[in-house]
This record gives sequence, structure tokens and C-alpha cells, in this order.
Amino acid sequence: MNALDNRRFIIVTGKGGVGKTTVCAALAVHLAHKNKRVLVAMCNAKERLSAMLGSDLIGADVSSVAQNVWAVNMDPERAVEDYGLMTLKSRTVFKLLFDNKYVRTFFSAVPGLHEWAMLGKAWWHTTEAGDLGGLKYDTVILDAPATGHGLDMLRVPKVIVDVVPPGLLRRDAERAWTMFQNPKECAVVLVTLPEEMPTTETIELAAALGELNLPIAQIVVNGVLPPLFSRTEREALEAFAAAPGAEPLPGDAAILAGKHRATRERVQAESLHRLSKELPIAPSFLPLLFEDAANPAAIRELAKRVG
Ligand SMILES: Nc1ncnc2c1ncn2[C@@H]1O[C@H](COP(=O)(O)OP(=O)(O)OP(=O)(O)O)[C@@H](O)[C@H]1O
Ligand SMILES: [Mg+2]
Repeated sequence: MNALDNRRFIIVTGKGGVGKTTVCAALAVHLAHKNKRVLVAMCNAKERLSAMLGSDLIGADVSSVAQNVWAVNMDPERAVEDYGLMTLKSRTVFKLLFDNKYVRTFFSAVPGLHEWAMLGKAWWHTTEAGDLGGLKYDTVILDAPATGHGLDMLRVPKVIVDVVPPGLLRRDAERAWTMFQNPKECAVVLVTLPEEMPTTETIELAAALGELNLPIAQIVVNGVLPPLFSRTEREALEAFAAAPGAEPLPGDAAILAGKHRATRERVQAESLHRLSKELPIAPSFLPLLFEDAANPAAIRELAKRVG
């Protein structure tokens, strides 16, 4: 993933459950090995990153989770508060405004506000100053929500830029939106599986991101199986069917297992073919590990592959 090594902001998205957080963890470890200071920002996620990195649970405050890696699990309400505090610059004024039940209810009902608060907070961390004056993080990785919600979130700054009158809110949204569209600073990583539905969804998502002019830098096909069979062998196995009423033979179970694998390999080959044909950049692959990947050793293994 050399293309990602110097980006300030990396947005990881894709269908639910395809391995977005796994890819965030692997990328963070990869970049940390290159001496980059990385922040992984999750969007109110069911927190699994700590298991992947072997750290304490990750909450709504930024915490250090590994050498050169920090993480935060953003809480939308907290993010709105943080944002309000940042723009109003005074806790007293903020409390006067936000401790009012009606004001709170009003803000909760503003469409896109929570999404923007989280996306805006993640972006703001790319501008955050460190103790020694320079930037605190070299890269912020956003573990974005799955497809539809992810797209909704990414559309909010554009809507703000298009419709909100000039002012503080629009100023930040404009800065963020300019950065998101700049391929030298921002990269969108799409994660998918070599299966039919995720493939279709990824092709549609890539088109929608293209319309938003967001730079897709990498398509990661996760959970790729090493092919065991040639195309002819696959066809022979898939055509296998025991004769009706025949006595089961000792080899049947093995052949059925082979048939199942042949089908997965065919679907994988078809998915990879469609992805290569229909997307603007060639996909890269992460192997399916035998055991669940939610542990530091597996993430280190995957980090070598993303690099
Ligand atoms: N290459 C892999 N090999 C083995 N297991 C994997 C691999 N990639 C991901 N997994 C496992 O699959 C599960 C889902 O992965 P992950 O949590 O990264 O998906 P996600 O896209 O972030 O899901 P969600 O949409 O719920 O946030 C996890 O248990 C993870 O450890
Ligand atoms: Mg996740």
C-alpha cells in the first residue's frame, strides 16, 4: 500500500462485516512500522479494534494503543459537544447553550449533524498540533460506517458547503471537503470480499464515490482463498452428483467438500474478474486466515501484506 504511505487522511469503507476494521488495524500497524504516528478513529463502533491490537478497550477519549498508534471510538453526542466547544471556545457559553434540553433536542434533529460531528472531528485531528508544535499525527485513519451510512456521512460536508451560509460551520466543512477531494492528502480504501453481493456493492459504491470526486486509492479484496483447483477441475467437481438412489461411497464426503470449495473458488474468480473489469484501479488482496483475524499476531501478518 505504498500509495497510502504519505496520505494525511485515509477513509476505509465497504459493506458491513467485510473486514474494514481489520484493514484499519493492519494499515495502522504497517504505517506505525514506517515511523508514522497514526490515529484510528472509529464511528461509534462495536469496539473490536482493541482485540486486534491487543490494547485496553478503546473509548471516546483518544488513547495510545500500540507503539505509534492511537485510537478513539467516537461517540456522536460527545463529538457534537467537542465540536461546539471547539467553535465556541468557551465551556461556559457551551454549557449555557447545550445544557438546555430544547437546544439539545433541536441539534439532535438536524440531519447529518452527528455524521458531520464525527467526520469533522476525525478530520480536525489531522490539523491537531502536537506538544512540540508540529502535527500530532502523520495519518488519521477513519474506520467509516458501512456502505450506505458511510456514503451518507461523506456527503454531509458537501451539503454543508453547498447550502450553509458562510460562517464557522461552513469554513471547517470547506477545509475538510477540499482535503477529502485532494488525492495527495486523502485516500479512500474500499474493502470487499470475493463474493457476489459485496462485489456488486463495491462497484456501486465506487461509482457513488467517483460522483463525489473522492479519490479511491485502493480496493482491498479481503479473505481471498488460495486456489486449489484448475478451471477444468472446478467444473468437474461442480458437476458431481451421486446417482439417485445409489449407495453412498467412502469417497463421497471428500468429493462433496471438494465441490463446495470448487464453488467458492469459482465465485471468487468471477468476483475478482468483475472487480478488475469494472473498477478504475486493480484490486489488491488479503488472504483468508485459518483462524479469526481479531488478534495482534494475525494483524501483524496482514500488515505485512498491506505493505
Ligand atoms: N483475512 C481474514 N482472515 C480471517 N478472519 C478475518 C479476516 N478479515 C477479517 N476477519 C474477521 O472477520 C470479522 C469481521 O471483520 P471486521 O470486524 O474487520 O469487519 P468490519 O467490516 O469492520 O465489520 P463491521 O461492518 O461490523 O464494522 C472479524 O472477526 C475479523 O477478525
Ligand atoms: Mg468494523
